Amino acid sequence: MALRLPSLRRAARWVPALCITLAMLALAGCSTDGYPQTTLAPKADFAELLDQVFRRSFQLATIVFFLVEGALVWALFRFRGKPGDAEPEQNHGNTMLEVVWTAIPAVILVFIAVPTIQVIFKTAETPTDNPLVIEVTGHQWWWEFRYPEYNLVTAGDMHVPTGRTVDLRMTTGDVVHSFWTPQLAGKRDVFPGRDNRLWFKTETPGTYPGQCAEFCGTQHARMAFQVIAQDPDAFDAWRGGMAEVGAPADSGGSAPSPLVAQGQQLFATKACVGCHVVTAVGAPTMVGPNLAGIGTRSTIASGWLPNTDENLARWLKNPQEVKVGVLMPNLGLTDEEITALVAYLRSLSVVPAPGAVAMTAAGN
Ligand code: CUA
Repeated sequence: MALRLPSLRRAARWVPALCITLAMLALAGCSTDGYPQTTLAPKADFAELLDQVFRRSFQLATIVFFLVEGALVWALFRFRGKPGDAEPEQNHGNTMLEVVWTAIPAVILVFIAVPTIQVIFKTAETPTDNPLVIEVTGHQWWWEFRYPEYNLVTAGDMHVPTGRTVDLRMTTGDVVHSFWTPQLAGKRDVFPGRDNRLWFKTETPGTYPGQCAEFCGTQHARMAFQVIAQDPDAFDAWRGGMAEVGAPADSGGSAPSPLVAQGQQLFATKACVGCHVVTAVGAPTMVGPNLAGIGTRSTIASGWLPNTDENLARWLKNPQEVKVGVLMPNLGLTDEEITALVAYLRSLSVVPAPGAVAMTAAGN
């Protein structure tokens, strides 16, 4: 049955509105403001390679879409039935047509496959340009970052220098996780008993959100992290600060205020030290994240909460209420003890990293 023209005309009235709606949705989807967890605004060489493959495939797919749909719509109108038409001429088989419509897609696939395979091999290479090795370990539910070159360890915020390739050696302390910073590189799963690799180099300082991308238990969704890319001077200042943070007053640290000293005392006596270390140099992997530099970290609870005194207090009051299922128990701390502990944790600060405090966009 052919469509009648009046109903087509009625439908056509909706076309402009539909186009505007689709365009607005597309533009909203492309926005990288606020929390730019997007692959569409690459900021490192690895992500740019992936983006090139995506764009090439998308461009070819767009051309194919308009050619095929255009031919279809043209045929619908050109050959539509009219009342009283005789039965159309019947055809079966056309060798030339079949050869053409097999050959054209094959050629298109070659144009997609060759660059894709090139990028697969390129991104699997081991970097040789004096990379900064960072050992990444996934834990339920936080990320640990170890810098063998500086004998440092940290958690939650991965600091990297701009202009130098970082070579990630990745594994897990428990179950399978997946490390993903969309603006910097592709996803990489981490497996028990296996080392996976990933590398990237960014030239753009900024704070790039990352996320565990493999379901790993109750709080999988709250296993985020940040990659904080700093120019080499700021990065050196950060690692210099990390090397000193948490040092007691008698070994070069400054004398703490009474409240901080009280918090330090509580930290040592209230089971905190059983799971956390407050110095970064040579620190072992513990049950809980390393806390050196926690005072100036961008978030707590693996990207779940902004690192404010209120949120630290809320966490200390009852971690299970903030993030059900985490290993940290409710220690039954009083409000006074929590105030002192928050002051102590806040004192474990390193030089503020530009853009490290707020979860701001890393630019477009
Ligand atoms: Cu770790 Cu999902």
